[in-house]
Amino acid sequence: MKSLSRISKPSSPPCKRGLTIAIDGPAASGKSTSAKLVAKKLGYLYLDTGTMYRALTWKALRNKVNIKDGKRLPQLAKETKITLKSQSNLETKIYLDGKEVTSLIRSPLIDKNVSLISTIKGIREAMVEEQKKIGKEGGIVAEGRDIGTVVFPKAEVKIFLTASFKERVRRRWKEEINKGLSSEKKRVAIGLLTRDRIDSQRKIAPLKKARGAVVIDNTCLNIPQTVDRILEVVKTKLTP
Ligand code: DC
Repeated sequence: MKSLSRISKPSSPPCKRGLTIAIDGPAASGKSTSAKLVAKKLGYLYLDTGTMYRALTWKALRNKVNIKDGKRLPQLAKETKITLKSQSNLETKIYLDGKEVTSLIRSPLIDKNVSLISTIKGIREAMVEEQKKIGKEGGIVAEGRDIGTVVFPKAEVKIFLTASFKERVRRRWKEEINKGLSSEKKRVAIGLLTRDRIDSQRKIAPLKKARGAVVIDNTCLNIPQTVDRILEVVKTKLTP
């Protein structure tokens, strides 16, 4: 990407150097909400790498670029500027070439196309390069699919967050209903199944448990309990 994504840190609390915490897991496993809260608790930077793939997907669809076009899409990534701005309320605003797309990139249409776009080598290379830059000083909680395996393979803390398929479908379905979308559980289930398959079976950087990652299955845990589990793992790395 040309000028690539830049993340601006909130003025309060200040982000400081510290551990690198890599959280990977399938869609609707609670990564974003938990990672955000862990980052807040530690005063670390929060990086949701999925938003970068989502923003590019939005641009590709808008420009009517074929989402399987392995030549045009990496070029599009190079011409694109994605900026992530952390807000003091824990939310991150996403800008694509200067336009805010935060809610636009969370639609079922993006959900449906983002996994395919994410399989393209040139796109992954551009994204990973930028993510490494953002996290190079540590003090970061980064979440996605390849964080512990590719982006930060030396992260001090690696978590693989997961939940049963049924529970993940329920969560995503509820999310859509809360957004006022007329959502059908069956369609959500098919969508998740397809994304799980593409994300975990792609040739480059498939979703898998990184070496040394701690698996947390939060099927029966709520968000505060999930955050506590992650912080327990972090604690073991903070105490010498
Ligand atoms: O976390 P999410 O659902 O917003 O991610 C959207 C898609 O982006 C996901 O289905 C696969 C891709 N992705 C990826 O390939 N690598 C990442 N590190 C993050 C997301």
